Amino acid sequence: MRRRLAAGNWKMNGSRAALAEVAALVAAHPAPTCDVLLCPPATHIVWMSEVTSGSPIDVGGQDCHPNASGAHTGDIAAAMLKDAGASHVILGHSERRADHGETDDLIRAKAETAIAAGLTPVICLGETLAQRDAGETLAVVGRQLAGSVPDSAGARTIIAYEPVWAIGTGRTPTLEQIAEVHAFLRGGLRQRFGAAAEGMRLLYGGSVKPENAGQIFAVPDVDGALVGGASLKAADFGAIITALEAPDAT
Ligand code: 13P
Repeated sequence: MRRRLAAGNWKMNGSRAALAEVAALVAAHPAPTCDVLLCPPATHIVWMSEVTSGSPIDVGGQDCHPNASGAHTGDIAAAMLKDAGASHVILGHSERRADHGETDDLIRAKAETAIAAGLTPVICLGETLAQRDAGETLAVVGRQLAGSVPDSAGARTIIAYEPVWAIGTGRTPTLEQIAEVHAFLRGGLRQRFGAAAEGMRLLYGGSVKPENAGQIFAVPDVDGALVGGASLKAADFGAIITALEAPDAT
């Protein structure tokens, strides 16, 4: 049985004052029946970890360097994220693939380094609207899955399916489209990782809100969500956690 996961990606948002939202979330959800993860900008990991200390809420980074250490000005090593209080790291988000030209090879190298440092990677993939319209969705996510996920991945490794066109747009795929991609990804993980694939969680991400979370979580093989905008407010993210705790979520 996979424990479900509500993961929040703050992207380049938030402030020290915004950590009051995290304190409110901790108070409102002292013992969630799903896992909860929040990934603030790296500068705020230590502060957020102080706020979540003693609660079941985990804190993660949003990127790391493929090397363990060295002369890489402005970059952050996986071990540093861990040192700061992170247990997870988001890798290969479509915004990094687009803004920084990240390739599957680079993301795989980052994931290997993260795993070696004791972090759980949340590896993101997803098609653009042009790729979906061209009927290439499964080919694209299959290629990304094969290229971005390292052989060292195990049952703890998390995959997030985030269609690029659904991120921050208020648009979501149909439940059938989500089900198709998640079933395809589960099949790909089984082929490659065998029994370990049963433990690997598949998150859906892209315009998840309190209003649509329940429906999305009832889709087979959706083990939780990677949430952007709605993770910034305790009330919204809390409602998504509650939806994930519902018994009819998969
Ligand atoms: P939104 O929930 O704001 O659409 O962002 C999704 C996302 O990119 C999470 O990583």
